[in-house]
Amino acid sequence: MSSLTLFFCLGSLVSWGSSLEFRYYNTVELEDYLKAVNRNYSSITHLYSIGKSVEGRDLWVLILGKYPTKHKIGIPEFKYVGNMHGNEVVGRVLLLQLIEHLTQGYLSDPVVTCLLNTTRIHILPSMNPDGFEASTRNCLYSQGRFNKHGVDLNRNFPDVFTQNDMERELEVQAVMDWLKSEPFVLSANLHGGAVVASYPYDNSNGGEELQRGSSIAPDNDVFIHLAKTYSFNHKRMRNGNNCYDSQIFKDGITNGYSWYPLPGGMQDYNYVWGQCLEITLELSCCKYPPEKDLPGLWDDNKDALLAYIQLVHLGVKGQVLNSNGTPVENALVEVKDKNNLCPFKTNRNGEYYRLLLPGNYTLKVTIPGQKEAMTETLSIPYGPDKYSALTHNFVFKRNTYSSPDVTPSAEICTSKLKIQDSSHSPALAPSHLTVLLLMALCPFLL
Ligand SMILES: *[C@@H]1O[C@H](CO)[C@@H](O)[C@H](O)[C@H]1NC(C)=O
Ligand SMILES: *[C@@H]1O[C@H](CO)[C@@H](O)[C@H](O)[C@H]1NC(C)=O
Ligand SMILES: *[C@@H]1O[C@H](CO)[C@@H](O)[C@H](O)[C@H]1NC(C)=O
Ligand SMILES: [Zn+2]
Repeated sequence: MSSLTLFFCLGSLVSWGSSLEFRYYNTVELEDYLKAVNRNYSSITHLYSIGKSVEGRDLWVLILGKYPTKHKIGIPEFKYVGNMHGNEVVGRVLLLQLIEHLTQGYLSDPVVTCLLNTTRIHILPSMNPDGFEASTRNCLYSQGRFNKHGVDLNRNFPDVFTQNDMERELEVQAVMDWLKSEPFVLSANLHGGAVVASYPYDNSNGGEELQRGSSIAPDNDVFIHLAKTYSFNHKRMRNGNNCYDSQIFKDGITNGYSWYPLPGGMQDYNYVWGQCLEITLELSCCKYPPEKDLPGLWDDNKDALLAYIQLVHLGVKGQVLNSNGTPVENALVEVKDKNNLCPFKTNRNGEYYRLLLPGNYTLKVTIPGQKEAMTETLSIPYGPDKYSALTHNFVFKRNTYSSPDVTPSAEICTSKLKIQDSSHSPALAPSHLTVLLLMALCPFLL
């Protein structure tokens, strides 16, 4: 009897008193941890590197899910990216805690079990390990922010609004290739220096997207829901006034551009070119807080991190098939009244995913170079509650063929930009003024 009790106590100590401490793991410790998790939970994890940093450190990604090794039709791909700015380290810590929570909760915690059974979750705890190793434990200084070449990775992506043809850094190229290799649907990029959820666009060229100082994306309604889901599930973010030196963010969210314009950012790139909706989460006033603050930061963010993953099940998903059931690749799947700069297209399995809030939507499916088009109106419920978007396949009556890959080129996507004649654009002046004022209030880069 007593040895049985002892056995249970030890058992719960081992699984609960986790192997992961609340402290900063360096690159070697982080790798060792990910490898140990992968060994201990081999049926629900898969570890891979998406490339190397300038100094040759691997950019490790751990996948968690019931089918970790490859994409399965109908299971959406989700990702979290941490530590893109090497000195913003809270996301890096929280993502390791999240890995611990997901692996230990599988088949015992119902939310974790449902998430892992229905979703493939990719976690990149550090996109900038060189910067992390170079940084100092300081709240504000930017030592370690950049990669080894001194480049800000969150300014180094191609940008649809501004020519940004600087040379791509290795870490950025790795993320661009990663986006091509998996059909990602939803993502968040974890930063520090403020407490707010910021959503696209981060940039504008003064065209029709620029509305009263904000740069409004076609999926703005969805982005606001994504950002608010995070801020309202976070212990304090919704209050909007968490840092003494920061402006007040209503509901703890902000349009990226209206906060401060930013060319070459990762979230606009994911959305415009990767058809993956991404937001930027600023998780702490102090970029590199003392280790004693880490348990509290995990407690603040845990529910929000889980609730945000669940949003990958918004909207509608399915396949485009021809009459004999063959998947049609590179078919365009457009939603009426959402004029995306690069059209969303089906992946190699003929699959599409569109994150949409509940309502009635008209979807149009076309195959480039072919006459036939298909239009259907769908009534879309709230998918996250059931851990599944509505499933709807589009089946062409006659035989159609996959079209060759027309990777959305800068030309296709920018051709849809409607640039305002700046001489008739009073909106530009005040927003630039706001920008200058904000930069003055907020001298530390985030
Ligand atoms: C893996 O399992 C070993 C042996 O049970 C344990 O000591 C270690 O803490 C575990 N590590 C992780 C990261 O789960
Ligand atoms: C999740 O999948 C596992 C493995 O197939 C299964 O045993 C379990 O019942 C599933 N749980 C839920 C809640 O879907
Ligand atoms: C969607 O359409 C159905 C009828 O097809 C209607 O009953 C419902 O109210 C509509 N929903 C919305 C949000 O407009
Ligand atoms: Zn940052």
